[in-house]
Amino acid sequence: MNNRIKKSLDIIVVGELNVDLILTGLTSLPEMGQCKLSKDMNFTLGSASAIFASNIARLGLNVGFLGKIGDDYFGDYILQSLNSRNVDTSHIIRDKSAKTGICVSLSFPENYAMASYPGVRETFRLSNVDFDYISTARHMHMSSYYLQTGMQEGCSELFRHAKELGLTTSFDPDSDPSGKWDNSIFKTLKYVDIFLPNETEALNISKCNDVESALDLLSKVVNTVVIKTGKSGVWTKNPNKTIHANVFKIEVVDTTGAGDSFNSGFIHQYLKDSEIEECALWGNACAAISTTKTGGTTAFPDISELQQFFTEREEEIERIIDLRK
Ligand SMILES: Nc1ncnc2c1ncn2[C@@H]1O[C@H](COP(=O)(O)OP(=O)(O)OP(=O)(O)O)[C@@H](O)[C@H]1O
Ligand SMILES: [Mg+2]
Repeated sequence: MNNRIKKSLDIIVVGELNVDLILTGLTSLPEMGQCKLSKDMNFTLGSASAIFASNIARLGLNVGFLGKIGDDYFGDYILQSLNSRNVDTSHIIRDKSAKTGICVSLSFPENYAMASYPGVRETFRLSNVDFDYISTARHMHMSSYYLQTGMQEGCSELFRHAKELGLTTSFDPDSDPSGKWDNSIFKTLKYVDIFLPNETEALNISKCNDVESALDLLSKVVNTVVIKTGKSGVWTKNPNKTIHANVFKIEVVDTTGAGDSFNSGFIHQYLKDSEIEECALWGNACAAISTTKTGGTTAFPDISELQQFFTEREEEIERIIDLRK
């Protein structure tokens, strides 16, 4: 088994890359032809995959990234941001022929509206993937299946090969901007160990009407299913048990990247062979802390900040986990 070989990376992230411009403190969305003033703004590293990579590296894991950026200012910014969080960027491809993408987000405490220019990230495909590099990792994570249109066709092969190389795998589909939610994702799910959709994504992919049915259906294909339901918490099921975990009480400033921050805490514990209730607790704590500042990475804690949070919230932790079966 490859897992017995000493691996230099804990996690390889195969993903999309872009910058984010986030405007906060708006009272409502502007009407067409109108300009609204925001109270604050943040220009920062964007994309679900980069937020995940950056945050799980902050928890102390060795993380590498496979993806594509343009040979431009935003591309430089992305590399600097990932490098500053100790993510290995040596295998990120720079494509001179296209621009790095950007996402403009109008952020409100409970939700956001976004417009995104994908740029070069759409051309990242299976033939760009270096499997020798992937084989140096223990675990592979991919986010944003529906945004990575170039990767979709080869996605099941990517996961199949990663499993063959001895890696465990996790997958967050993120939203489908086309609204089609086609069934092709199931070809990949059979090679996924942890599937982490939010509620809307889980219902659309499973074609179920409620979260518990979606959890049951998706669990027939994937070992560990995690459905994030925003401030209502999270559902997790594996072959041994089903749990519901409540969220921590927190003053929310911006939920950008809360799902990816959750994934970082959850997978960090999964790689330590923790039970799913411990994984969900860490996910909820990382996500809650990440909502206290704008952007997906700004407030994300390191291990000592997280331990301090757990110490301060000892009583609250008692009511977080609810074992269902
Ligand atoms: N109001 C809140 N208070 C505390 N924690 C929250 C709140 N909203 C979200 N969270 C935390 O963030 C996690 C992820 O949120 P959500 O369900 O919105 O995921 P998502 O839609 O995938 O997020 P993203 O937009 O980052 O992809 C939740 O499971 C929860 O732990
Ligand atoms: Mg998400």
